[in-house]
Amino acid sequence: MASYNLLLLPGDGIGPEVMAEVEKLVRWFTKTGIARFETEKDLVGGCAYDAHGVAITDAAMDRAQAADAVLFGAVGGPKWDKVPYEHRPEAGLLRLRKDLGLFANLRPAICYPALADASSLKRELVEGLDIVIVRELTGGVYFGEPKEIVTLENGEKRAVDTQLYTTHEIERIARVAFELAKVRRNKVSSAEKRNVMRTGVLWNEVVTRVHKEEYPDVELEHVLADNCGMQLVRNPKQYDVIVTDNLFGDILSDVAAMLTGSLGMLPSASLGAEDPATGKRKALYEPVHGSAPDIAGKGLANPIAMIGSFAMALRYSFGLVKEADMLEKAIANVLDSGLRTKDIAGPGVNAVGTGEVGDAIVKEMEKLA
Ligand code: NAI
Ligand code: MG
Repeated sequence: MASYNLLLLPGDGIGPEVMAEVEKLVRWFTKTGIARFETEKDLVGGCAYDAHGVAITDAAMDRAQAADAVLFGAVGGPKWDKVPYEHRPEAGLLRLRKDLGLFANLRPAICYPALADASSLKRELVEGLDIVIVRELTGGVYFGEPKEIVTLENGEKRAVDTQLYTTHEIERIARVAFELAKVRRNKVSSAEKRNVMRTGVLWNEVVTRVHKEEYPDVELEHVLADNCGMQLVRNPKQYDVIVTDNLFGDILSDVAAMLTGSLGMLPSASLGAEDPATGKRKALYEPVHGSAPDIAGKGLANPIAMIGSFAMALRYSFGLVKEADMLEKAIANVLDSGLRTKDIAGPGVNAVGTGEVGDAIVKEMEKLA
């Protein structure tokens, strides 16, 4: 039986509550013999600051470097609003992203049939939706230099941000997108604005070459980023994997996320470069939501974003595609059965707690296995 090394960083607020539900699944997988996970746990965020005076320790970073994947809950809360800026809870997450070199951010938009009426779009447009946006995370206009506001001789001010991409940066994000497509529906849509941006021209060129040389069997289409935004709200199911730069990805991933409803439902992954020796990638999986101080400690949090993040780890870090499908099916079945936490319950529905949803998903897995 294959064995995988998982580092769990539950963090603050509802982080530990939703992580506890993933731990039930980890135990279930090991018990059934489908896959063995060796787990370690460490502190990140406010709780790490309380214990060690930093948002993440060097020892925890070493464990993250050594792990096959990191599962991250959430960090922050009013208790730490006054801590020194460099030690604020988010600094833990930022250090993980930076030191693990996580340049590819994956944000899926999955619409479970039972929740299709909660979308702002018509049921038939979103029911069964399952797409992933691959956003380049460490380059582009958020980081390019020069980046400044200067005062001109006539007293006017001028602000500059620089959109900048190299061949290498585009190649590696394109490869992530094509690799994902291979374990999905085999289609990549690359979004840029080659009609008005030089970075768009290079992006288009490099993605086309990587496709031709390395992934000729994957379907590739190029789409202008503004049109991609329109298509996402017109007919999102036409997509499988969308690959795009940091800025367009920021916007398009938020648009896609909201096609599917609550914050408590949204998983994400961040991937680093492939180690040429082992073929493994550094990877961190986390829900899109934060630590939800307003409901923390009450057992009300929706664990599906965290459990969905674990499903992504199964699919993208461990190659357990069948098991990932099974877990997503288990989530869908539990939603179909009417079991909901408060955030997705809707009027007149009796909401259940975090643990009940987790238990029900484990039970579904038992049926599906
Ligand atoms: P938030 O995502 O924590 O909460 C926003 C709203 O959504 C709240 O009403 C919350 O109760 C609800 N919500 C979030 N996740 C939920 C879940 N799983 N189930 C049910 N309801 C859920 O964002 P907010 O309130 O802006 O930030 C709270 C704290 O979290 C802050 O300290 C912030 O800095 C931090 N934060 C951390 C992030 C991370 O760790 N990656 C990301 C975003 C915020
Ligand atoms: Mg955003």
